[in-house]
Amino acid sequence: MSQNIQQNDSSLYGKQIILGITGGIAAYKSADLLRRLIKAGATVQVVMTKGAQAFLTPLTFQALSGLAVRTDLLDTESEAAMGHIELAKWADLVLIAPCSADFMAKLANGLADDLLSTLCLATDAPVAIAPAMNQQMYKTAVTQQNLLRLNQQQRLIWGPASGVQACGDQGPGRMEEPEILFARVAHQFKLTNTLQGINVLLTAGPTQEAIDPVRYIGNRSSGKMGYALAEALQEAGANVCLISGPVNLPSPVADCVKVQTADEMYQQVFARIAEQDIFIGCAAVADYKVKEIATQKIKKNDKQLALTLIKNPDIISEVATFENRPTLVVGFAAETENLLDNASAKLLRKNLDLICANDVGSLTTGFASDQNKILLLMRSSEEHIESEQLPLASKKELSKQIVNIIAQRYNQKKSK
Ligand code: PMT
Repeated sequence: MSQNIQQNDSSLYGKQIILGITGGIAAYKSADLLRRLIKAGATVQVVMTKGAQAFLTPLTFQALSGLAVRTDLLDTESEAAMGHIELAKWADLVLIAPCSADFMAKLANGLADDLLSTLCLATDAPVAIAPAMNQQMYKTAVTQQNLLRLNQQQRLIWGPASGVQACGDQGPGRMEEPEILFARVAHQFKLTNTLQGINVLLTAGPTQEAIDPVRYIGNRSSGKMGYALAEALQEAGANVCLISGPVNLPSPVADCVKVQTADEMYQQVFARIAEQDIFIGCAAVADYKVKEIATQKIKKNDKQLALTLIKNPDIISEVATFENRPTLVVGFAAETENLLDNASAKLLRKNLDLICANDVGSLTTGFASDQNKILLLMRSSEEHIESEQLPLASKKELSKQIVNIIAQRYNQKKSK
């Protein structure tokens, strides 16, 4: 498997991993594993047990990860920065490498007498262990019983490998090599990030609301953001249907329906919504349309011209309250001020699961630009909103990150 997965595997980009290190000579290999995870774009918080610190100092891992290593459950200074329960919730994966026989016994029996064991109990992220111990300690009945229990508790058991051991013995008990563990981590995220076979309906581009046969009310959306998302969704295995306003871009997906007005977009969305697992509203839909469209070109005269505008349907709000609502409804918020407040209010008012807020007042992000910067707001409960900043990047790169997060949220929601 290691040969098939690249070091810069995008499934690891932005992932939050706790790397737990317990007492064992194999701890030195964890430095290499950590380096690989960081290089692939993951954020890694290292947690060391007392035993681990007898083999290597926290400073080594701090230098590699860029984060102070956590060692104590009751350290007031670190707890003030991020409490252990918060840290447990932060993690997308907890990997314990090396995992000693002693730590396996603790984990199998639900003990929580240090930071790492407490994190394992407090997290709802997958916990993976890479056992490392003397071959006889590994083979002994009680260790095998612990392994069985850990397996039954859905802990992921990666290894051990077999071979010559540091103590000179030969047999099973060597920690898996860093490149193999890295590949396992990447594969694990691929499994949770996949949208294989999932139906996604996505809107993109502007809408145009006719004033007369030659004029319309429109906006600056180029479709770049939505089309990049369609491509990333397709790459993640989703069946994508793109409902697009008028843009000058080739569709990256076969199933693309072109519309002009908000009403047409509404009709095309609702003709398909019942079969969708995920809906994403990236289109810049006109909020208003002209009440009476002139049948002939309006002629200029010396008087002022007044148009009466009436409201268009709010497509995404209606999708979110539809009786057969998709599992995940994702919106975008185009703002020119108070990004966080305005986008949070939209997330709640429109009943969305997630909103991608972007500043459209700037020339380098938002409309028409090839780049964007997204503040992602996610509803984790009725009143609680989590946020994640996706820094300035190309719309294509950002789309991969957004799709990763959408897939994670979707799979989490489905498994509840
Ligand atoms: O196309 P590009 O040039 O690449 O630019 C990308 C973008 C700036 C258009 C995109 O990133 C973006 O922000 N899209 C949403 C634009 C918008 O209409 O935002 P809003 O804050 O007005 O609307 C909030 C949400 O409600 C959006 O999901 C929108 O699709 C939806 N909506 C709005 C009005 C309406 N009548 N029906 C809707 O479904």
